[in-house]
Amino acid sequence: MTGYPTIASAVEALKEGAYDYLSKPLILDELRHLMARVTEKRFLKGEVQSLRARLGEELTVNELVGNAQPMQRVKEIISKVATTDSPVLIEGESGTGKELVAAAIHRLSGRAKGPFIPVNCSAIPEDLLESEFFGHVRGAFSGAVSDALGLFRGAHEGTIFLDEIAELSPGLQVKLLRVLQEMQVRPVGSTKAHPVDVRVIAATNRDLDRTIADGSFRQDLYYRLNVVRVSLPPLRTRREDIPALVNHFLRRYNRRFRRDVKGMTPDALAALSGYDFPGNVRELENVIERAFAMGAREQITLADLPVLGTASVPSATIASPSGNVPRLADVEKDLILRALAFYKDDKEAAASALGISRRTIYRRLKEYGML
Ligand SMILES: Nc1ncnc2c1ncn2[C@@H]1O[C@H](COP(=O)(O)OP(=O)(O)OP(=O)(O)O)[C@@H](O)[C@H]1O
Ligand SMILES: [Mg+2]
Repeated sequence: MTGYPTIASAVEALKEGAYDYLSKPLILDELRHLMARVTEKRFLKGEVQSLRARLGEELTVNELVGNAQPMQRVKEIISKVATTDSPVLIEGESGTGKELVAAAIHRLSGRAKGPFIPVNCSAIPEDLLESEFFGHVRGAFSGAVSDALGLFRGAHEGTIFLDEIAELSPGLQVKLLRVLQEMQVRPVGSTKAHPVDVRVIAATNRDLDRTIADGSFRQDLYYRLNVVRVSLPPLRTRREDIPALVNHFLRRYNRRFRRDVKGMTPDALAALSGYDFPGNVRELENVIERAFAMGAREQITLADLPVLGTASVPSATIASPSGNVPRLADVEKDLILRALAFYKDDKEAAASALGISRRTIYRRLKEYGML
């Protein structure tokens, strides 16, 4: 409301997000009308949001496979929190579907039309992180040749997904905390703060309670992030979901490989069900993809799953009637493929876990005809 109404100030106010504009003296009837319109708009916005949520729900329920008790609980929490703006903290071992859950919450929420911006906190070098997060102004540091918006402002009216949050440096933890409290960001090199409207979802595969106890994670930031908590169960604790997940990935890779693999032989499925899956659902997906890559056609058989049960293969062979000792080369191949599956095909990581050079891995893969 202003005593000096001008077109310029009206335009300015609307640009800044005002719904309407009143000039003095205040006429109560005018205010009443205006408020009625505002209320109606808010109501309609809520309606649109809940309809969109209901549509989205069907999508995600199909995508997030698994009906084991702990997964049902996860899905319940997801659909409850989606319609709020509360921060969510997702915890779970590697490959349990943390990013999938974050994306589902976003898609079910009123922010679905806005951006979903995943950020891996451990992948960005420490000295770049602040400007990546909050932007910078031109000339803020050498190399800052123009203004940059930063991920937070890029996620305006959407969701930012802070993955591997436990890896955030102490300095950035303080800055992030301030942003969450004030909901505004100040670009590096600027004195002006900009309001942001973002929902924050964070994830970690580490035990945050422990990182707080050892002082590497701030407790106050933890309280801010941990308003709602989703704990994703490891796959080995919900083996009953394995057949449904297998079918889900069969559909996915049939599409990608343009094949029509119908299913899995019972012994192959039994082997999968007895496996420990240190890499969780991602590892299961890799196993299926590898079976396709190895040429599975009608059905996936035990022979298409060489990465399973490395330890049991040699001992079973030793005990076999023929009395054959396994060839060292076969055991080695098994181990290498298994390590690659576990490290999502990251040859460097697999090599270092096996204590061999990356060149050796490449040489072996070439020998196996897999390069
Ligand atoms: N319940 C599930 N239903 C269907 N697919 C799933 C499920 N959980 C995980 N996946 C699939 O497994 C893979 C890994 O999931 P995602 O990337 O979300 O795991 P993550 O917990 O973020 O892992 P990391 O900690 O290693 O980053 C993805 O391809 C995802 O689609
Ligand atoms: Mg992830």
